[in-house]
Amino acid sequence: MQSSPSRLVITPSATILSDSARAERMSKLSFGRAFTDHMALIPYRDGAWQQGDIKAYGPLMLDPACSSLHYGQSIFEGFKAFAQPDGGVATFRPEANAARFNRSAARLAMPDLPPDLFLEAADALIDLERNWVPKNVGESLYLRPLMIATDPFLGVRPASEYLFVLFASPAGAYFPKGVKPVTVWISEDYVRAAPGGTGEAKCAGNYAASLVAQAQAEQKGCDQVVWLDAVERQFVEEMGGMNLFFVYRDGEKVTLVTPALTGTLLPGITRDSLLQIARDLGYASEERRLSVSQWRADIASGALTEVFACGTAAVITPVGHVKANGFDMTINNGENGAVTMALRDALLGIQHGTAADTHGWMHAIKPR
Ligand code: PLP
Ligand code: COI
Repeated sequence: MQSSPSRLVITPSATILSDSARAERMSKLSFGRAFTDHMALIPYRDGAWQQGDIKAYGPLMLDPACSSLHYGQSIFEGFKAFAQPDGGVATFRPEANAARFNRSAARLAMPDLPPDLFLEAADALIDLERNWVPKNVGESLYLRPLMIATDPFLGVRPASEYLFVLFASPAGAYFPKGVKPVTVWISEDYVRAAPGGTGEAKCAGNYAASLVAQAQAEQKGCDQVVWLDAVERQFVEEMGGMNLFFVYRDGEKVTLVTPALTGTLLPGITRDSLLQIARDLGYASEERRLSVSQWRADIASGALTEVFACGTAAVITPVGHVKANGFDMTINNGENGAVTMALRDALLGIQHGTAADTHGWMHAIKPR
């Protein structure tokens, strides 16, 4: 479908940061703390998406009775734009995020956002914020789209008015210590998602419900929580806000195992991309269930040589130690593994435009 430029009115901010203030803000990037000058807003009412705006970044005015604040009718996404060697900017698989956004919307009884409108808003915002795209490897402009229910009504039913919001944040490493192996706590007290629940959706409530488990992991001296399946409480699902991969070696043969998408895991776009990159690098891969007891046995036997987590924000993060009630095991001497780092380099190479984009994943932002 041809998109019409009139769907978004661009009003440049009157208070754009000076070059020096922006450079200062971008000189020590972490994750999620700095925001660019503009944001996109598109309201939905009377059964249709209305004229949208790109305007100065700032607080939203919401009615206190709007149901996103009470009942959590709220979804989000995360994807990244990267500076390219030719001086341009490109996003990584944004159409996959647009598609997942709509799957999350459907699960939360929210309206579909036409993927071309999602992309048009992202392209227009990124084009306006080119100066905010960091240039260093591992740094990017992180895009955060969200949709919230906005009509004031306290009854529990799908809202009739919504707001799509998109803003951007120059981002460095997600974990403060950079690419260093993390220590994980396998949660036996909490579950993230149950069959029939919202585990596959990127909805706000999933993250609110995870916080107490993450706090428990930290009390146990760990960086991150690992979730198990809700029914048998023995199969590994995810790590915090990231998918997990297990690297097996048998002589020269490398096999990547990642938990199957059973309906309770978030289908990660990084996960999907790494399954493809694994094939490109000549690694075998398997999507299947993996129990904690198997994980332990495979570390002990030496068959399992590396474990890592992956996601948009944190890219690839090695897992160096795994703990739970009654055990504490080290993986790969607590060091970054060779397969983990090869996959990370291959992914970052495509994203930063230094390796061939053989799968057509990069979406160039055309100057207006
Ligand atoms: N799992 C959860 C629960 C997440 O929040 C995320 C982050 O988006 C992921 C996995 C990884 O998904 P993606 O690679 O699409 O960022
Ligand atoms: C992402 O990786 O983009 C996420 O959304 C994970 C987390 C920051 C919630």
